[in-house]
Amino acid sequence: MLINNDTIIKDNDPFIREKSMPVELPLSDEDRALLQDLYNYVKDSTDPEKAEKFNLRPAVGISAIQVGVPKQLTAVIVPTLDKDGNEITAEFMLANPKIVSQSVQPAYLDSGEGCLSVEGEHEGHVVRSARIKVRAYDAITDQEIEIRARGYLAIVLQHEIDHFSGTLFYDKIDHDDPYKEIPGALVI
Ligand code: CO
Repeated sequence: MLINNDTIIKDNDPFIREKSMPVELPLSDEDRALLQDLYNYVKDSTDPEKAEKFNLRPAVGISAIQVGVPKQLTAVIVPTLDKDGNEITAEFMLANPKIVSQSVQPAYLDSGEGCLSVEGEHEGHVVRSARIKVRAYDAITDQEIEIRARGYLAIVLQHEIDHFSGTLFYDKIDHDDPYKEIPGALVI
C-alpha cells in the first residue's frame, strides 16, 4: 500500500472517527503486510531524504485507520530508555494492543502532540497517563507481549490506541483552558 502525506486520511474525513476492530490471530498475510507498510512509513519518515522524496511527514507512530483500514493495527518507533537508563529505540508492530493498567499520575508533552491526520494547529496539554501496561501481539517478535511503558513511549502508545476508538489528540485538550495546570503531572 502506498502511504504518504497525500494518501493518509485527515480529520476532515469522517472516516477517521470510525471504530477499529480487533484482527484475528494468527495474523493473516494481508494484516501482516499492512503492519509492515505502517512500520516502513514510520521508519522512512524520519530519514530526511526519503521523507522529501516520498512526501512523508515525520512520525513516531501510525495506525491502520489512518490509511483507511479500520483494524486494530499500529506501528510505533520511539526513542526511549531501557531499565538501566540506556538510550534505545522501542519498535513495535502491534495487533490488538490493549491498555490493561494505567497510572493515576497524569502526563503530557510540554510541546503538545501532533498527528499525521491533523494539519490544523491545536495547542494545549493533552492529558494522558504517565505509565501504562499494554498487552498486544507484536509482529516484529511474533509473540504476545506486555509492554510496560512510561513517559514518551506511554504517550505515543496511548495516542495510537486512541485512534482505534476514533479519538484524536485534540479531543483531550481543555478548550476553555488549554494550558491549565495539571496537578502532579509528569511533563515530558
Ligand atoms: Co495520530
